[in-house]
Amino acid sequence: VDCGMLQRIKVKQQWASVYSSGIGREDFGEAIWKAVFAQAPQARALFKRVGADDIHSPAFKAHIARVNGGLDMAISLLDNEPTLNAELAHLNGQHKERGIPSNYYDVFIRALHAVVPAALGRCFDHPAWDACSDVIVAGIRQ
Ligand code: HEM
Repeated sequence: VDCGMLQRIKVKQQWASVYSSGIGREDFGEAIWKAVFAQAPQARALFKRVGADDIHSPAFKAHIARVNGGLDMAISLLDNEPTLNAELAHLNGQHKERGIPSNYYDVFIRALHAVVPAALGRCFDHPAWDACSDVIVAGIRQ
């Protein structure tokens, strides 16, 4: 399955329903990062500056909000490719100097693809998310 227009619209719609708001949004973000650090405990070291020693700290919650805000932007732009590409290039610039091991992006996507279906309840479109997550990650990692 390609990340075609149908898949893009599906992912946008499913993301919009799980991204939620308020405390629900915080819990959703926290679940993703718990799953990231469970799979790759060493990844925590990258986020010392933003409070990763305590994922409940305001500093780390703010970091989670920035990342999910970036993800929200990218997913929202899936049906506007030129702007999506500009946003992904910007995110690439913010990541490439930080020496992030490439496999951490796979860890992150695995975490996302575990938490989104749980939040959604049913009908998670796995092939669409796989294909469109590839588009987003390919633009961010070097
Ligand atoms: C920072 C988005 C994946 C590591 C950020 C920021 C955003 C963002 C918006 C804040 C930039 C700023 O304000 O300076 C994303 C998106 C991702 C993603 C949309 C996936 C689709 C990852 C992954 C890792 C990672 C997988 C490594 C495990 C970092 C680090 C920072 C950062 C180390 C800087 C933290 C600091 O401020 O010290 N990311 N990110 N990101 N991201 Fe990501």
